[in-house]
Amino acid sequence: MPPPLSALRSGDDPASSFKSRGYRQLRWLNLPKWRLCGTMVPPRDTALAATAVALRGGELFRRVGCGVCHVESITTAPAGTVIDGGMFAVPDALGDKIIHPFGDFLLHDIGTGDGIVQVGPQDTANKLRTAPLWGLRTKPRFMHDLLSLSLESIARHEGEAREPARRFRELSPEERQALITFLNTL
Ligand code: HEC
Repeated sequence: MPPPLSALRSGDDPASSFKSRGYRQLRWLNLPKWRLCGTMVPPRDTALAATAVALRGGELFRRVGCGVCHVESITTAPAGTVIDGGMFAVPDALGDKIIHPFGDFLLHDIGTGDGIVQVGPQDTANKLRTAPLWGLRTKPRFMHDLLSLSLESIARHEGEAREPARRFRELSPEERQALITFLNTL
């Protein structure tokens, strides 16, 4: 029997546990492999993305304001840019690339915070990094605490995301379904 989730010490890095404790650990966590040990993201479901309902859902995603944090496209820094206080120079393979993370990688307080101060000032305690939505359709659980089993996790958005979440709730059932179909293409 795998150990219960509560047996993970805080600070345990699932990726290194994966290395030291073997593949079973990964299956026990029930997370897609790429999420723990790689940067590869599954490609979009282009067939579903081309359907009228998914295209409509994408429009609604942008109109409602989800894209303010779940930013669709980002261009990486030019190759050669020195970051991390001079510790890292962006290599050719990573420089000037257009990526579609559906996330801004920034900290926001959307009301789901756990009170843990991030590397930064005290007010980061209830902020979390926007979860990138790429690969979303492969995930069985959502949000940093993995407590959401369905995309009803959208209903947990409050705080800085209150207005987009309210506009999402005010959509018709068909529109909400279209937006979720769009999310299922990611
Ligand atoms: C103010 C920024 C912000 C806005 C606006 C926002 N989100 Fe989020 N979203 C977040 C953050 C931060 C998280 C991570 C929260 C956590 O882990 O507790 C998140 C998590 C999610 C997740 C879970 C992803 C995962 O892998 O666990 C989904 C799905 C999601 N958002 C969809 C939406 C949708 C749909 C909208 C529009 C109705 C929206 N979000 C608007 C910041 C935002």
